Amino acid sequence: MEIIHISAECYPVAKVGGLADVVGALAKTQTQEGLSVKVVIPYYNLSSLKTIQTETIFSSDVKLGQFNFPFSILKAFNTRLEFDLYLIVIPELFDREEIYGYRDDIERFVAFQIAFLNWQKTIETIPSVLHCHDYHSALIPFMITHSYEYNILCRIPTLLTLHNALYQGQFGFDKLHYLPQYDLSKTNILEWGGNINSIAAGLRSARAITTVSPSYLEQINTNGYGLEYLFREVRYKSKGILNGIDTEVWNPETDNKIAAQYGIKNATVGKKINKEKLCEMFHLDVNIPIICFIGRLYEEKGADLLYEFSKKTLQENAEKFNILILGSGNEAIEKQLQSLVADSQGVYNLFVGFDEDLAHLIYGGSDFILMPSRTESCGLNQMYGYRYGTIPVVRKTGGLIDTVQDIDKNGLGICFQNETVEDITSAIERAVTLFENKEKLNTIIKSGMMRDHSWNKANQDYLKMYKLIIK
Ligand code: GLC
Repeated sequence: MEIIHISAECYPVAKVGGLADVVGALAKTQTQEGLSVKVVIPYYNLSSLKTIQTETIFSSDVKLGQFNFPFSILKAFNTRLEFDLYLIVIPELFDREEIYGYRDDIERFVAFQIAFLNWQKTIETIPSVLHCHDYHSALIPFMITHSYEYNILCRIPTLLTLHNALYQGQFGFDKLHYLPQYDLSKTNILEWGGNINSIAAGLRSARAITTVSPSYLEQINTNGYGLEYLFREVRYKSKGILNGIDTEVWNPETDNKIAAQYGIKNATVGKKINKEKLCEMFHLDVNIPIICFIGRLYEEKGADLLYEFSKKTLQENAEKFNILILGSGNEAIEKQLQSLVADSQGVYNLFVGFDEDLAHLIYGGSDFILMPSRTESCGLNQMYGYRYGTIPVVRKTGGLIDTVQDIDKNGLGICFQNETVEDITSAIERAVTLFENKEKLNTIIKSGMMRDHSWNKANQDYLKMYKLIIK
């Protein structure tokens, strides 16, 4: 079976968030299980990509309305990746240092998908499944089914995985001519709310849909960012498959990005050394718990609530815990969070930016990981948290519901209901109380570290899904 993943991100070469981790780890697991796996991403101007050895295997053009973009396909070699990596080079659109956030993101990712198909239609061996991830590749199922040019690919089964249905790749019908000529009677498949909507087109055209957790799938049926009606309509071909984590990359016993390695048996000692290192680096108080936040600083992740909560904590001068933040995103939120450092009193600090190595150390040395997400399709940080003995404190939403049960219900984390500072505050108060009860704390830490979040189960579920659509 040959699977092609088409994605905007892939760990370890192009990462903004969880999408990269999932695509990289899933492709790796599938390869280990004997599938033939390719991952195709754009060639950004990132040092992690520029240092890879490549050979050009195909060149052509993408026509996007009146624009014409030359592109080429690079095959990476001598990488330490276990799967085959292909890079689509469209210099005008992707030779940039950020993965997203440009005004022409629509042009960039539509061109990426067309380039991919222009290449695929020339290849003799047809893949078993095209596995599309998020809006950046969600038009592919539509294009192969209805664009005349790709007729030869129209029988390839497609699976669309939604990692984040908030971003839907919408654009006006004035850009309809970007799409290679198709059967115009099918235009309604593209349309949602008066626009072309990549996710809507993907939901209708893909053979099957997966979300990255079962609870998220339930949730978007009633709260689907405007698409709930459509989510219900395609429910019959949808399934929630809970993400796993790469237990080799995220293993405190072998992790050379942390100050001291540790396993379940010596977690207390190991975490203490990591905590001391963190406290030294960020001028924090080693005697009280560290509550960390790692991730993209956007409202969807509750980063604005994090600011309000931190501000309140510092004003009240409570000094019962430290807050340590690693992330970047919305500039206004970044500035707000930064503005608190002046009054940090040695219990608050942050690093604005993306730093994978630091993330590992923060998991290693923190006591709790806070996830005040407004929406979370799966969330990986709570699982990284478990693995490093860092207890998750999460809002009950999406995949967090599927992975974190409250300690009062025999679970291994702390849950709260509402997206409010009050709820975060009382959850953190419970965390501080737990921190003082060392015996209970250690039991929870160790049980969390024993949880199995490997890709084995999800991998089997994806395999079943592929088999179902290959017919
Ligand atoms: C996105 C989602 C996150 C999920 C990840 C991987 O980043 O926001 O919840 O875990 O994708 O699927």
